[in-house]
Amino acid sequence: MSGRETILSEQSGTLADNPFSSRHPTSHERLTGLPWDASYHNGPAPWDIGQPQPAIVRLASEGGFHGAVLDAGCGTGENALHVASLGLSVLGVDVAETALAIARAKADDRGIEVEFAAADAFRLERLRRRFETVLDCGLFHTFDRDERPGYVARRR
Ligand SMILES: C[S@@+](CC[C@H](N)C(=O)[O-])C[C@H]1O[C@@H](n2cnc3c(N)ncnc32)[C@H](O)[C@@H]1O
Repeated sequence: MSGRETILSEQSGTLADNPFSSRHPTSHERLTGLPWDASYHNGPAPWDIGQPQPAIVRLASEGGFHGAVLDAGCGTGENALHVASLGLSVLGVDVAETALAIARAKADDRGIEVEFAAADAFRLERLRRRFETVLDCGLFHTFDRDERPGYVARRR
């Protein structure tokens, strides 16, 4: 995908202090004028129900997840934590460090083995990992028409 001068530091698991200086803002960020991280600054974000989404729980109970699982745009990690609690290997990635910190704290509290890392969904190849299942709960629909093809290509 051209035009994205991303210098996210997936390897270290941290983002630069100013997220807009370290990667190209998404269409949602350009629209709102705020980095995604701001959604997690004042209590739970509107989409964060504090538990896994019922559709994900149902999908998991029906065997919808196998092998290594990537949760793209994992937020505070409820879905990733649920899938990991079933014994699967799960990596949750997000650009919002605040959300990732909450997710890691939940994993510690609950004693669930799961990884959370800062990574841009438009640069998934930088993870240098392969996954058998990619979970996207609420990320794809935040991208505009121009962003969607590039994102889908990176999940292949
Ligand atoms: C609507 S929220 C859904 C969060 C979570 N999946 C859930 O179900 O609660 C979208 C998430 O995608 C993250 N996100 C947005 N753009 C991203 C990108 N380019 N790469 C990785 N994560 C991104 C946001 O920070 C946010 O946590």
